[in-house]
Amino acid sequence: MRYEEVKRIPVGLAETATVLAATGDLNRHSVLDVGCGTGFYPRLFRTAGASRVFGVDAARAMVGYAQRQEERDPLGISYEVHDALALPVIGAFDVVTALWLIGYAPGAAALDTMLSGLAANVRSGGRLVLLHPNPDADWAVLADYSRYGLTVTRHDVVDGRTRTTVHVATEPPFEFESFFWPPGVVEAAVARTGLSSVRRQAVVTPAGDESFWRPLRENPTFAVLTATRP
Ligand SMILES: C[S@@+](CC[C@H](N)C(=O)[O-])C[C@H]1O[C@@H](n2cnc3c(N)ncnc32)[C@H](O)[C@@H]1O
Repeated sequence: MRYEEVKRIPVGLAETATVLAATGDLNRHSVLDVGCGTGFYPRLFRTAGASRVFGVDAARAMVGYAQRQEERDPLGISYEVHDALALPVIGAFDVVTALWLIGYAPGAAALDTMLSGLAANVRSGGRLVLLHPNPDADWAVLADYSRYGLTVTRHDVVDGRTRTTVHVATEPPFEFESFFWPPGVVEAAVARTGLSSVRRQAVVTPAGDESFWRPLRENPTFAVLTATRP
């Protein structure tokens, strides 16, 4: 699927490395991935050693695609259709991830609802990992990030989030909408769920060519937050 091409451009390589740094060692860990899309991350987590991976998404088409991948190349991943705005307690997971999901919460109240559903699935001592557009991003820099494979055009503010178009420089190119929460909003909302130690994961980039990767680490397009259930 075209969406997965984003994971292969430079910014996508940094994204996946940073998410894996944030989840920590997944060996013998259970993972719930909410907003799993095509199943890219569930497959990555299983390959990285997770013992049990469960993916959910509100879109039947996404879950269907992920399930077909699972049938073609079975890794033992389960998928179900669920809306993150009405997420049941599926279990007590070591790690719960929501990767490019929370930008779709239409407003602050919906963000609280989404985060409390995610947090309710984190076991005591477990971890929540969120990947979302970088609230501190410098718009002028993002407008010309073609060397990392994309550029970002800023539009209006919708339900408290800045609406943008992300233009991906694949062949052929494509674009999608992305919503940036303002600085501090997501951290404060995570703290309201009762999870603690809310931290921003430092961006991890592939080894080598420091002059290429350093600007992306200093002004990333994405932010990865972690929090734990005491
Ligand atoms: C940009 S995609 C990210 C997919 C995947 N996490 C990844 O990084 O490759 C966002 C996904 O969130 C899903 N989504 C959006 N709103 C949702 C909601 N309320 N509940 C569950 N999934 C939702 C979409 O269907 C889509 O698959």
